[in-house]
Amino acid sequence: MTLYYEPLPDRARTLVEILGGQPHGAADLAELAALVRADPGAQLVILGSSVNLAEAVTFAAQHRLTRPTLGVVLLRDHVDVAVLAEALRAGIREVINAGDSHGIRAACGRSLEVSHQLALGGVAPQPAAAPVKEGRLVTVFAGKGGCGKSTVATNLAVALADGGKHRVCLVDLDLTFGDVAIMLQLVPKRSLADAVPMTGRLDETGIRSLVTPYAPGIDTLLAPPAPADGERVGRELVSEILKIVKRMYDYVVVDTPPFFSDQVLAALDLSQWYILLATPDIPALKNLRLTLDMFDLLEYPTSQRIIVLNRSDSQVGLTHADIDRVVRAPIAGRVPSTRDVPVSINRGVPLMVDSPNNPVSRYIREIQARIQTAAQPAGAPVEPARRRAFSLRRGR
Ligand SMILES: Nc1ncnc2c1ncn2[C@@H]1O[C@H](COP(=O)(O)OP(=O)(O)OP(=O)(O)O)[C@@H](O)[C@H]1O
Ligand SMILES: [Mg+2]
Repeated sequence: MTLYYEPLPDRARTLVEILGGQPHGAADLAELAALVRADPGAQLVILGSSVNLAEAVTFAAQHRLTRPTLGVVLLRDHVDVAVLAEALRAGIREVINAGDSHGIRAACGRSLEVSHQLALGGVAPQPAAAPVKEGRLVTVFAGKGGCGKSTVATNLAVALADGGKHRVCLVDLDLTFGDVAIMLQLVPKRSLADAVPMTGRLDETGIRSLVTPYAPGIDTLLAPPAPADGERVGRELVSEILKIVKRMYDYVVVDTPPFFSDQVLAALDLSQWYILLATPDIPALKNLRLTLDMFDLLEYPTSQRIIVLNRSDSQVGLTHADIDRVVRAPIAGRVPSTRDVPVSINRGVPLMVDSPNNPVSRYIREIQARIQTAAQPAGAPVEPARRRAFSLRRGR
């Protein structure tokens, strides 16, 4: 249970809204200490911004040794070095600005993760060598709209599931204009936006409450029906969701918007495969090259990039040599243009479902085979590929 103490009622109300769920408030620090004593499983205490600093520090210091699994997060109106130093000495895990609701939720999530690990270590020696089984995450991306991301993502999810032999989760990270629901004729009862109140506390049960099943072996996490709701699904939350989803499924396929966003970076950070699309026109090819430059900067391994030229046979006056000159990277596959694709989208049935021998389906199966026959067996732990920390700021 999450416990908090904030003496000012207005601030307490705001805090409860930020935390979501049903945190338990104490009337003073003595009651807070009593609540902690009464609940040996309590892992998180939040001390509000109007709690006296000296008292907060004393509270944390007292519990530091007696309850090492209890994380204390302190809110302040101003965070300065002196406050941070004092807090850290007392064993407070994080000091966060009281106005930073996103930061507060993220800090609570991190603290709970630490507590969870400590609790595991303290209860019994875990088989530390036993790796957590993880599915492989495939992100489908293009730096220009309309290149076929959603087409590839939906068909690849069907191919990877292989009629229910594998568990696949298709995640629509095109949070404002996601097409997965409409392409699969799904009516989203819940969407990724419904994860927002669970930020920092998500678990497999929470994820199960959000998925919309599609077919045997295939679940979807859909984009919010109202574009404005997508704004609320931030990078930290996307990371939290994807980390859990990877543990639950053999494969996770992520569809994306046609631009780098913090949420897309969160998915790329956790990906084992990157499917990068372009169509044979100069703006799309230029954006593919820029995407590859960005990937080089972020040190996403070249071996895991699958570059696909969609609608490759469109007669648009570009030769293979022209295309290679712009892209300057090996193109793994060329998918022909066929009216079967828009027809299948308009019917709401992926080509892989009822036309597995269509040329587009055949190429999707090549990607599936490459992913499934890669060195590691499905379910083995896979290192995230990314090495550098990077964050996008709005307006840059
Ligand atoms: N191989 C193909 N042959 C013919 N049409 C195609 C092919 N691939 C995609 N299309 C068409 O191109 C359009 C865009 O495809 P899709 O929605 O998959 O792209 P997207 O990259 O997801 O777009 P957005 O950036 O808008 O999300 C669709 O109308 C689809 O029918
Ligand atoms: Mg799309």
